[in-house]
Amino acid sequence: MRSVKVGIAGLGTVGSGTVKVLCENAAEIARRVGCPIEVAHIGARSNRLGCETGQIKISQDIFDLLQNQDLNIFVELIGGTTTAREWVLAALATGKPVVTANKALIAEHGSELLAKAKTHKTYVLFEAAVAGGIPIIKTLREGLAANKIEWIAGIINGTGNFILSEMLKDREFSEVLIEAQSLGYAEADPTFDVEGTDAAHKLTILAAIAFGMPLSFDKVYTEGISRLSSLDLLYADTLGFRIKHLGLACRTAEGVELRVHPTLIPKKNLLAKVDGVMNAVMVKGNALGPSLYYGAGAGSLATASAVVADIVDLARAVVSKGAYRIPFLAYEHLSDVPVLPITRVRSAYYLRVQVQEQPGVLAHVAQVLSGFEISIEAILQKSVHSQTGLVSIIILTQPVLESDLNEAIRKIEALAETGAPVIRIRVETLSE
Ligand code: HSE
Repeated sequence: MRSVKVGIAGLGTVGSGTVKVLCENAAEIARRVGCPIEVAHIGARSNRLGCETGQIKISQDIFDLLQNQDLNIFVELIGGTTTAREWVLAALATGKPVVTANKALIAEHGSELLAKAKTHKTYVLFEAAVAGGIPIIKTLREGLAANKIEWIAGIINGTGNFILSEMLKDREFSEVLIEAQSLGYAEADPTFDVEGTDAAHKLTILAAIAFGMPLSFDKVYTEGISRLSSLDLLYADTLGFRIKHLGLACRTAEGVELRVHPTLIPKKNLLAKVDGVMNAVMVKGNALGPSLYYGAGAGSLATASAVVADIVDLARAVVSKGAYRIPFLAYEHLSDVPVLPITRVRSAYYLRVQVQEQPGVLAHVAQVLSGFEISIEAILQKSVHSQTGLVSIIILTQPVLESDLNEAIRKIEALAETGAPVIRIRVETLSE
């Protein structure tokens, strides 16, 4: 075979990075595959490569690529879930394999796409959909195949992590978000980053692979970071914690927990040291124990690294005429584990109760908590806040059932001395 020919739909941040990596590392990649990989056809409204395209054919209509019989592999990098879904389904119907970096597409329509790939005896690969360049899907599917996965905890949105890292330096949320957008980290709709949707898409995919369960995006409990105050990041610091926006997938006796929310984690945990736009995924396997995968979770070349890894895998299969087989997602053997509603999840909590400065208030708050058998792990009181005139009592609880905590908070907020809604953030020790 003279070369493996790739058609790429979309020439945005990831598309142009993918072309660049395939061109600049062409010799190294050809050595690994056994023959060159050639970008033969691009579907994009304009040539954003900023250079002569030489032999590369450019079409404005991405569906033109699907008529090109010379292509061996299709790559979807247009984003979104409407045209991208149609295009990927049509591409798979040709019997040729598809690579996508589109987490929303896989999380929301992955079952349909995988079924289509199966019908046409081909592949759809999506390493770049989770944690950018970190090869976490391959790791779960292959490197950790011996393990029963107990839990996954990930910093899987670079924009959110960048914002939280900067807020710890006492910067404003909105100012840092604008900077993250200008650096090209944020989604087209940045609410996906700051309200947790992007992380929920990625967690859906990780959980499906780790636990062999259906893609369950609609069952992920999702809370963002937009209502966090830098005050809480600083109080958590005083107590020995960092606040990170985590995606958590945990196997329990009752079912699987799938949740995305701000979380206090001990400063000594390696995940707490992951700053800026970097991503990291910690996986606890029953044989290996905990392991950590760290790297750039966004950005043109970092994400392209994962896209090209999938292209390389598929190119090997093309070159070997199918003798080289890529392990599938185990979608034929899905275990129908229930996803627990958040009210049935137990976790420890950081509570900040803002009250009038007067004797006996702390006792009232403690009484409410003890009424629900909620044990206090640590307590901290801050002096009167100059703007609110209230004092903050910060309480770390022992693990508590969410539904009990909701009731306790309702009662605390009803106390005459309570002057503002209770701020609540979950705490995870991520113990081994
Ligand atoms: N907006 C995403 C992030 C990009 O910030 O992590 C990569 O998926």
